[in-house]
Amino acid sequence: MKLFKKTESQTPAAGNGLLPETRRAFLQKLGLGSLLAGLAGFGWQSFRALIPNVLYEPPQKFKIGLPANLAEGVTFLEDKRLYVFKEGKSFYAISAACTHLGCTVKYTKLNQPKQVTIGGEKQTIPFEFHCPCHGSKFYADGTNYAGPAPRPLQWHKLELSPDDGQLVIDLGSEVEQNFRLTV
Ligand code: FES
Repeated sequence: MKLFKKTESQTPAAGNGLLPETRRAFLQKLGLGSLLAGLAGFGWQSFRALIPNVLYEPPQKFKIGLPANLAEGVTFLEDKRLYVFKEGKSFYAISAACTHLGCTVKYTKLNQPKQVTIGGEKQTIPFEFHCPCHGSKFYADGTNYAGPAPRPLQWHKLELSPDDGQLVIDLGSEVEQNFRLTV
């Protein structure tokens, strides 16, 4: 009677279809690939850290046209949130950013000019600024008198461009409430 000896199977490893040697080589390549990917990521992060994050902001100084072309009274520059006033030959600019939390204040013409005392001085004002967010109110010169706003509205410097005579507003320069550019 012939006895059959049971031998180990020479068939491919069950499940993945790869021979042991091939499988080892594959795993080595996978490991090397992961290592290289990790090093590349680390290298990129290190390189990126050397480049400063720059925040580009709109210019603080900008032209708004020739003085003669600005309308008498008030002009609202919506994108700059700025009220520009022309009174004959005098010009000034008041920020529309409320000093409480920054909402845009509204120019509000009064039905009747109002007598007020600002800084110990009696004045007649024909308009005010009202904030729609929490009710702060400002006199015509930007002085806060009601609501949570802690400070007056900012006034910004106006000058004439030496190149072409246009009005230039500088949002980076704050000026006193009695500032006037006379042309
Ligand atoms: S943001 Fe103007 S009162 Fe609050």
